[in-house]
Amino acid sequence: MQFEQRTTTCGALRPEHDGQSVTLNGWVNARRDYGGVIFIDLRDRDGVTQIVVDSAYTPELSEKIHDVRTEFVLWVKGSVRQRENPNPRIPTGLIEVLASEAGIINASDVPPFEIVDDLGTNEELRLKHRYLDLRRPVLQKNFLVRNKLYQLTHRFFEEEGFIEVETPVLTKSTPEGARDFLVPSRMNKGRFYALPQSPQLFKQLLMVSGFDKYMQIVKCFRDEDLRADRQPEFTQIDVEMSFVKQDDIIAMTERFIKKVWFEVLGYKTPATFPRMSFREAMEKYGSDKPDIRYDLKLENVSAVAGATDFSVFKEVVADGGTIMALNASGCAAFSRKAIDELTEHAKKYGAKGLPWLKLQSGEVSGSLAKTISPEQAGNLLAAVHAADGDLVLFIPGVWERACTIAGALRSEIAKRTGILESLKDTFAFHWVTEFPLLEFSEEEHRWIARHHPFTSPLAEDVGLLGTNPTNARALAHDLVINGYEVAGGSVRIHTNSVQRQMFDLLGFSREDAEAKFGFLLDALKYGAPPHGGIAFGFDRLAMLLSGTDNIRDVIAFPKTTSGLSLMDGCPSEVDTHQLRDLGISRISEAG
Ligand code: AMO
Repeated sequence: MQFEQRTTTCGALRPEHDGQSVTLNGWVNARRDYGGVIFIDLRDRDGVTQIVVDSAYTPELSEKIHDVRTEFVLWVKGSVRQRENPNPRIPTGLIEVLASEAGIINASDVPPFEIVDDLGTNEELRLKHRYLDLRRPVLQKNFLVRNKLYQLTHRFFEEEGFIEVETPVLTKSTPEGARDFLVPSRMNKGRFYALPQSPQLFKQLLMVSGFDKYMQIVKCFRDEDLRADRQPEFTQIDVEMSFVKQDDIIAMTERFIKKVWFEVLGYKTPATFPRMSFREAMEKYGSDKPDIRYDLKLENVSAVAGATDFSVFKEVVADGGTIMALNASGCAAFSRKAIDELTEHAKKYGAKGLPWLKLQSGEVSGSLAKTISPEQAGNLLAAVHAADGDLVLFIPGVWERACTIAGALRSEIAKRTGILESLKDTFAFHWVTEFPLLEFSEEEHRWIARHHPFTSPLAEDVGLLGTNPTNARALAHDLVINGYEVAGGSVRIHTNSVQRQMFDLLGFSREDAEAKFGFLLDALKYGAPPHGGIAFGFDRLAMLLSGTDNIRDVIAFPKTTSGLSLMDGCPSEVDTHQLRDLGISRISEAG
């Protein structure tokens, strides 16, 4: 098809171009027909320009474009002129192009939804026609941000002396962590590759090889339940450094984030970010990735609550449990219905009930008020510094569970009271450190690594591995921004003996450890340098920088929360002969 190529884009023209002859190529965003005059808004990645086709001036042209509808692709030649009715809302709003010639490059069916930013259309339909969804300016803007992040990342790490090395995508299945996506091997029937959950072991081996400072923008794959900030395939900025201490990794990360936030958003981050231990994060905010933009804090009131007449509190405390309290300041006016809804919310996280007190016009009331004495109620309110107008919620339970439920209520209250909405354009950056090295898996009846089995314990806690592993803390660090874990890493175990001890603790037999991680254990025998690193969730960074809370808004072709690609219909069935080639047969449902 013949068309005249553009001399400029649809977002570039301004009043200083008045009188110039230009050619534009683009999509019809909107078309308004006023009889003798047709207005067409022509759109490309760069913006929208108003085109005027005036039948008094070009009668044949008016005829030619008469049937043009939205999403047709056009070329338009004409001259730039100032608009009679400027549109201050768009950058090209002061000018228009009076068309002298134009042509249809390609027609379009009526799209299944309008290509506009504020779209009510359900996401499923949009994902099915993702190529059209991606035409929407709001999404295009996100991908410009994402692109900027790629470029900045490469520049930053290059300037800091890192080298990018690609690691394999067909790797060995390692059973720790999330589930692997498996790839059957045709040449070695019955065997499988795994897609990497992260290049963790490869980057450590690169340190053993002497690469010193490694980085990679890399796809990772995890077969886990999906959420608004999780995808089965996602991108990391993966980083590893030799001869470093945790502070070096933290300082490098802070320099990177500072640069990114400034260059993308013009936002000045603090020079260093505050750090809090896992314990502090859980007790104060009820989360290991708290949103600290708002101040609602939790209080461990076990001592005071255990001394009341409320049997649930007494029993929980006697059993070594915890009573957490959340002072929802200013929420005493919440209705019974609202409190019931909060109770239901708490139950989703494992609460059995949600005892509460409120202080309103000097009066104490609430579900607990009848069960405990006024003095005990006063003590509880004092423990959370309650003032008139406050609602206080109590969460009894095992420490981590009670903290988590209280944290979920904290976020819910921030949502309900509009606190979150008011903080939309602000950022809070902080570190969470000193995670427990291990956690006990009730399911598997064994210790599992909280981060991964290659993370070193704090130097002063190495001795605990043999005596009291529950209390051993990890030299791990998570970077949290506005309640999102955007990066996580650690200092690694770099000696064969400690790594073996770790595998022993995790319940691997010597043979098992050898079969699964023998290559790492071997490498650690040949002069492995002390090393550590971090991996950033690239998509989560792009999400925060784009001001969205949906990771799918920054991934070109994402999966739904059930792991489907609605556009191309994957995962899909494969032919029996493909399976036969791979030596695979299907187990019937019944089998
Ligand atoms: P971790 O598992 O913490 O660490 O992952 C690092 C960062 O990757 C992001 N992330 C995800 N983003 C989107 N969808 C997912 N399913 C998903 N899972 C993780 C998060 C997270 O902070 N090898 C270690 C890093 C290291 O120790 O250096 C690792 O992968 O933002």
